Amino acid sequence: MASPSRSGVFSDSMDDALARFSESISFDYRLYKHDIRGSIAHATMLCRQGLLAPDELSAIERELKAIEARFDQGEFPFRIELEDIHMHIEHALIEALGDVGRKLHTGRSRNDQVATDLRLWVRDALDRVDQLLIELQRAFLSRCDRDAGVIIPAYTHLQRAQPVLASHYWLAYIEKLERDRARVADCRRRVNISPLGGAAVAGTSIPIDRHYTAELLGFESVAGNSIDISSDRDFAVESVFVLSLIGLHLSGWAEEWILWSTTEFGFLKLPQRYCTGSSIMPQKVNPDTLELTRGKSARVVGNLQSLLVLLKGLPLAYNRDLQEDKPPLFDAFDTVMACLEMAAPIVRDSELQAESISSRMDQGYLDATALMEALIQRGIPQRTAHHQVGALVAIAKKRGVPLIELTDNELHQVDPSFDASLRSSLSIQGAVASYRSAGSSHPEHVAQQIHRWKSHLEK
Ligand code: ARG
Repeated sequence: MASPSRSGVFSDSMDDALARFSESISFDYRLYKHDIRGSIAHATMLCRQGLLAPDELSAIERELKAIEARFDQGEFPFRIELEDIHMHIEHALIEALGDVGRKLHTGRSRNDQVATDLRLWVRDALDRVDQLLIELQRAFLSRCDRDAGVIIPAYTHLQRAQPVLASHYWLAYIEKLERDRARVADCRRRVNISPLGGAAVAGTSIPIDRHYTAELLGFESVAGNSIDISSDRDFAVESVFVLSLIGLHLSGWAEEWILWSTTEFGFLKLPQRYCTGSSIMPQKVNPDTLELTRGKSARVVGNLQSLLVLLKGLPLAYNRDLQEDKPPLFDAFDTVMACLEMAAPIVRDSELQAESISSRMDQGYLDATALMEALIQRGIPQRTAHHQVGALVAIAKKRGVPLIELTDNELHQVDPSFDASLRSSLSIQGAVASYRSAGSSHPEHVAQQIHRWKSHLEK
C-alpha cells in the first residue's frame, strides 16, 4: 500500500497486513480538532517567521477548517494506509492545496505533533472532568438542605459506630471530590506545557518560534528538552491516575448506596429511572447504575496499569509503542465522565428513608461512645470508662435491650456510683449535640461546613 510517510528510501510499498496492524486512525480520529488547532498555530508561526506567505497561511487555515467541518459531519473517509489522524489531515490538505499543503510540516515531526494534540485533548478533557466533579459536589450539597437534621448511623468496619448527621456524610463526599479537583488542577499544570517544535528528537534547523506556538495554543510554557518532549507521557499516566482515584471514590460511594438501598438497610430509595428490572422476578428494582459504576472503575484502574506497563523500559525518545497510549487514555476519560454524569442525578434525586432509619437508631449501641465520654468528663480515666461501658453493653446485649433500658441494678453491677443520671447521656440527639472537635458532626460544625461549601460551590 502507498503511504505518505514512506519517503523515496522505500522501493517497495507497505504490506496490507502491516497497514491494518499499524493504523491508529480508528481511535486517534478523536484528536482531529486538536490536530487542526495545532496545525493552524504552527502555520501561523511559520508565516510570522517568513516561512509561509500570508496567502499560503490563509489557504491552509481555510482548508483545515473545511476538513474539520467534514469531520464534524462524519463525512471524512478513513483510509488505513494513511495510518493516523495527522496523515489523514495533512493528506487532505495536500489534495486540496498541492505544494502549499506540502509546506505545513516544515520544522515539525509527527512526534511533537502527536504529543501536542494529546496534551490539548487531555487539557480539555480535564476541564470537563472538573466541571462534572463540581456538579457532583453540588448534588451532595443540595442533599444537605434536604436531609437537614436527619441523624444516621456512621459505620466503621461496616458495623454501627456513632450517630452523625446525614449532611455530615454528604460533606465527606464533597471533601473527597475536592481532593479530586485539586489533583485535576495540579495534573493540568503539567499537561499544559508545549511540546510543539521539539520536532523528531533533536530540534530543528528551521527558524521556528516555539514560544509563539505555545502562546497561540494557550500553553503555560515550552517543554525544555527536545529529546524528552516527544517521548514524555507522564502527563497521560498522571491524568489516568487522577481518574482512577475518582473511579475509586465513585465505586466506594456506589457500593455504599447499593447496600443502603437494600431491604436489609432500608436507608435509601434510588430514583427508579436509574434502576432496572429483572426478566424473571417481577418484584425486582435493581441498582444497576451503581453496580456498573463500581464495575467500570475496574476498567479505569486497568487502563492505568496498561499505561504504566506500556512505558516501562522504553528507551528515549519516541517509540511506536506510544501509539498504544491512546485507547487506555481515552477509555479512562470516557468511563469516568460517564460515571460522573450518572452519579449527579442519582445523588440529587434519591430519597433518604428518614423514618426507617430513625426507627432503628436504638440498635447497635450507637450511644456507647457518648456514654464513655460522659464518664470521662466525670473524671473516670478513659481506659476505665471504655471497659465499664463495654461491660454495660455486654449486659444490655444479653437481654437484647438498648443501653437506656438498663436497670439501676444493672448499672450498679458495673460501678456502684452509676445511677439514673447516666441515662441523660444516652439520647442519639444528645450524642450528636455533644461532639465538640473541629470537623465533627455537631450541628453547628456541620452548618459551618455547609456554609463554607455553599460559598465555594454556588458561585
Ligand atoms: N500514530 C503515531 C502515534 O500515535 C503518530 C506518531 C508517529 N511517529 C512516527 N515516528 N512513526 O504515536
